Amino acid sequence: MKDFESTWRYYRQRIESVLEDKFNSNEGAPTNLIDPMKYVCLDGGKRFRAFLVYACGELAGAEMAQLDAPASAVEMMHAYSLTHDDLPCMDDDDLRRGKPTCHIAYDEATAVLVGDALQTQAFSTISEESDALISPSQRIKMIAELARASGARGMVGGQVLDMEATGCRVDFEHLRLTHELKTGALIKASSMLGGLAGHRHDEVFMKGLEEYAKNIGLAFQIADDILDVTRNSETLGKPAGSDDRMDKATYVTFFGVDESIRQAEHLSNTAIEIIKGLGDNTEVLEQLAYFVVTRSY
Ligand code: IPE
Ligand code: IPE
Ligand code: MG
Ligand code: MG
Ligand code: MG
Repeated sequence: MKDFESTWRYYRQRIESVLEDKFNSNEGAPTNLIDPMKYVCLDGGKRFRAFLVYACGELAGAEMAQLDAPASAVEMMHAYSLTHDDLPCMDDDDLRRGKPTCHIAYDEATAVLVGDALQTQAFSTISEESDALISPSQRIKMIAELARASGARGMVGGQVLDMEATGCRVDFEHLRLTHELKTGALIKASSMLGGLAGHRHDEVFMKGLEEYAKNIGLAFQIADDILDVTRNSETLGKPAGSDDRMDKATYVTFFGVDESIRQAEHLSNTAIEIIKGLGDNTEVLEQLAYFVVTRSY
């Protein structure tokens, strides 16, 4: 049985050095762009999405080397979403991963362009992977999945719903869909990209991964809403109370902290039952689902 802590440490070290290599091989790109790209992408973050790619990929029978490109792609996409999310025109936050946000450390134009460049680099990272590691047809499927999860029907669509719900009353369905899209979509894509790199492509397995990820994806954003009111900025590495300051609709404003915790735990338990059905070596993914709702940052 794999130990959760040491597995996570290994995945984190691995994704850190893979990302570093990817940014260091950007010959010809302006230093004034590469430096802030590294600033937002390296040395920080839980690497939760990379963990999902690696762990779901290993469960699907993929080799670690086949998972480096999709794992770095989802982390780049995620870092782009955070960089734009923090801009004054969106959540207007000044702290991320324990450091000044990109538009504070650099400037707003740089933060917009860093996000743009990270998004395209996520796709080139997958498309340029060698045929020997991931077949062309696997790469196309990964790119399609990542594009869907990140765009109008995924993260960006969710961010628009989030903006609509800022300072106004929305119904619960609007809130649930916001969370599913702004956060759940990329979390789901991380699991699917891992699965696509492996060779267990039967429908039951891929559907199981998808359902597991949907449950932890929603639980992850509910936990994020809870942490915003229960932890301080130092622990979070981002400004606590940001949702209240912006008058956001969150699970906490809808249900309060206790009921939000209960709903997140229910989703986590459902995810654990689903993943257990997919093999004998699902412990780290079970523990990851548990981490989602017990985390302190
Ligand atoms: C924060 O994501 C934004 C959400 C989608 C809730 P994470 O909590 O995964 O942020 P990092 O990567 O650890 O900084
Ligand atoms: C962020 O949701 C979702 C995306 C970045 C797509 P939040 O706005 O709640 O994330 P934090 O709390 O700033 O990390
Ligand atoms: Mg936001
Ligand atoms: Mg935010
Ligand atoms: Mg938040």
